[in-house]
Amino acid sequence: MKQGPIGIFDSGYGGLTILKEIVKELPQYDYLYLGDNARTPYGTRSFDVVYQYTLQAVKRLFDMGCHLVILACNTASAKALRSIQQRDLPLIDPNRRVLGVIRPSVEEIPLLTKSKHVGILGTQGTVLSESYPMEIEKLNNGLKVNVTQEACPMWVPLVENQEIDTPGAEYFIQKNIDNLLTKAPEIDTLVLACTHYPLLRSKIEQFLPENIQLIEQGPIVAKKLKDYLYRHPEMEINCSTLGSVKYLTTENPSVFENKAGFFLGQQITASQITLD
Ligand code: DGL
Repeated sequence: MKQGPIGIFDSGYGGLTILKEIVKELPQYDYLYLGDNARTPYGTRSFDVVYQYTLQAVKRLFDMGCHLVILACNTASAKALRSIQQRDLPLIDPNRRVLGVIRPSVEEIPLLTKSKHVGILGTQGTVLSESYPMEIEKLNNGLKVNVTQEACPMWVPLVENQEIDTPGAEYFIQKNIDNLLTKAPEIDTLVLACTHYPLLRSKIEQFLPENIQLIEQGPIVAKKLKDYLYRHPEMEINCSTLGSVKYLTTENPSVFENKAGFFLGQQITASQITLD
């Protein structure tokens, strides 16, 4: 079978925080990043719409040669991953794989919290799906972990519109952090359960008490992907190894190049595609 890049998909720029860590951990592989910037944000969209958009993106990445696609988006992982894995993959190609970011994160949580009170910051879609509380209960059999969630619907638009260093950003970040800590003051571990949120990290930290550790998914997902490829040599052999990273966006490529370059700390070039 012809080797291909590893596909990394997000609704916009957030998946870059995952891509960056994956490339750091596994620089030898080729990557194809796809941001659906034209239709972002996904967080406020219905289950069906997120599923349809995500399936379109996955199919396109398969058509472009990817054997393995990572949904570097919690909203897509929460709303589309299971249906794609169980219903679509067997029909499209049973040898291809799609993985998400929720399960790898959930596996780490019990190792991190001492108080057994964990906070989840995510999009409305991720929070309403209840994926985190359900997965935490399922995977940590026996061990009771209290999970408190807070939806932060303004945070993704702040990132997508590069409004990070503004008083407006501070207002919304403080508001959501205060809401969460009022609901559950015992929290000692806070998961940034949206791949856009690490881009707001320094602002979030301004409003967090020092005893709370902030968990980013990028390093966790990168470590788990390395482990996955080690355990699945039949997939690893399909991943090409020229060390390249290519970028696709459904919006204006020069806008993507500017913003993505800013987030990644390096200049990149992007191509535009349409999804349907
Ligand atoms: N980055 C995505 C996530 O991890 C969500 C962004 C959006 O709302 O589109 O949930």
